[in-house]
Amino acid sequence: MNEPHIWWYITRASALIAWALMTISVLWGILLSTRVMRRIDNPAWLQDLHRYLGGLTLFMAALHMVSLMLDGWLKFSLPETLVPFATDYKPLAVALGIISFYILIAVQGTSLFMNRLPRRFWKGLHYSSYVALLLVALHAGWSGTDVGAWWYRVLAIVLISVATIAVLVRIITGTKTGSSSSAVREKAVPAEDQLVLARPQIDTRTMVVSTLEDVAQGVRAIRLLPLGGGQLPVWHPGAHVTLHLPNGLQRQYSLCGDPAERTHYDIAVLKTEQSEGGSEWIHANLSPGMTLEVSGPLNHFELKPANEYLFIAGGIGITPIKAMIESLPVRRKWKLIYVGRSRSTMAFAEELLERYPDHVEIHASDEQDSQLDVYALTASSTAQVYCCGPESLMSAVTSFVPAERMHLERFVAIARASSLPASPLEVTCRKSKKSFVVDPQESILDALEENGLPVLGSCKKGVCGTCEVRVVEGKPVHLDSVIDDAEKDRLKVMYPCVSRAEGDKLVLDL
Ligand code: FES
Repeated sequence: MNEPHIWWYITRASALIAWALMTISVLWGILLSTRVMRRIDNPAWLQDLHRYLGGLTLFMAALHMVSLMLDGWLKFSLPETLVPFATDYKPLAVALGIISFYILIAVQGTSLFMNRLPRRFWKGLHYSSYVALLLVALHAGWSGTDVGAWWYRVLAIVLISVATIAVLVRIITGTKTGSSSSAVREKAVPAEDQLVLARPQIDTRTMVVSTLEDVAQGVRAIRLLPLGGGQLPVWHPGAHVTLHLPNGLQRQYSLCGDPAERTHYDIAVLKTEQSEGGSEWIHANLSPGMTLEVSGPLNHFELKPANEYLFIAGGIGITPIKAMIESLPVRRKWKLIYVGRSRSTMAFAEELLERYPDHVEIHASDEQDSQLDVYALTASSTAQVYCCGPESLMSAVTSFVPAERMHLERFVAIARASSLPASPLEVTCRKSKKSFVVDPQESILDALEENGLPVLGSCKKGVCGTCEVRVVEGKPVHLDSVIDDAEKDRLKVMYPCVSRAEGDKLVLDL
């Protein structure tokens, strides 16, 4: 490098780029949470870009600091670069920059593990990026050596204006019902138990039945509005909510509307032959104006970014798939194979066909001479396959599609049994420092409750995913049907309503 002050130029350039990237990253995050970009691309893609921008910001900030040390003009030492107020050169201004760098590391670092952290903790930390952006603006204004230049002032005005408008939009729109929090409340948990509940609590809110409409034979579409109005939390396609019915039952239903609509939830309920009192009660009793407690949303069937999708829905399995289709960008390649007994029983079939004639294929058994050829449908495709419907359809599809391209959502539990002999299990809860023995006939979920560690459970059959807990030590034997066993092991989670463990000891993060 012949230019004697190359590091000085790199310092200034990397600082400006980091500031601009950070502003864009915050703006992108706000677009993501408010879903104003919904028609342009899908949420997973936006989320990835948000993360990459954050990572790039951190890299540029680190480059800014390293080049400051290498530069011969200001001659920053390592402590002066890393420790607030260690320098004599504009100590406050430099300290603000250093503090914002640490906030950025914390935000970016925790985002890598967001699935393993309590949601509220992660969110709270993530919001501190707004503070970091403010500190960066002050740092740039006080310590920047280009402050006198017109172009620097223009850039600063643009970045600060963009950030201010974005944060104001975020505050105004919010992710929850802001002042209508009376309608949004946490599940009632005794104070002492709140200390030991390690997993994030699931929001439960009172909602009003707005409309009911029969959208197919035996299928009723229901629109639910938050009591008192306001906006609902951001949700992504594949999510489901739990309805707490007045007869004491809790039932899970996939959200089937447009994820961008945050004023209401749309679900569709099939009246099943073998109803245990859930769908039957809804069909017989639910009417406009009634209120229900609704928990969630939770999502174990998330739409991942991909260039091409093949959706295969059977019967009422169309509900999560419909939400996925609603969220796709206009130019994304996708196809829906919708299978059912007859068109009259297939909810949303005509609507989807009318809106997306080039993408939707309906296979009604009473119109076909032969059975659906799942092999022919999937053999030549390289698309990511999302399938939801009867077990027979899902097992046919999974037998032809490689696991890395297969995504499933189950409405009923698959029959799974442990090959290990039933034996007592010692469960230790790390945070609450409690240990107890779970009898072979008892579920871990019940034992947790008995020992004063209530974990929310809903289906208690290993389907809904509500009771998810983190595993610190021990090898769970997964007997649920929520997500892939490999994915559960990767995330170190288990569903204690049905699952057990290998060996005689298990340590949970509770
Ligand atoms: S309560 Fe539904 S998976 Fe455990």
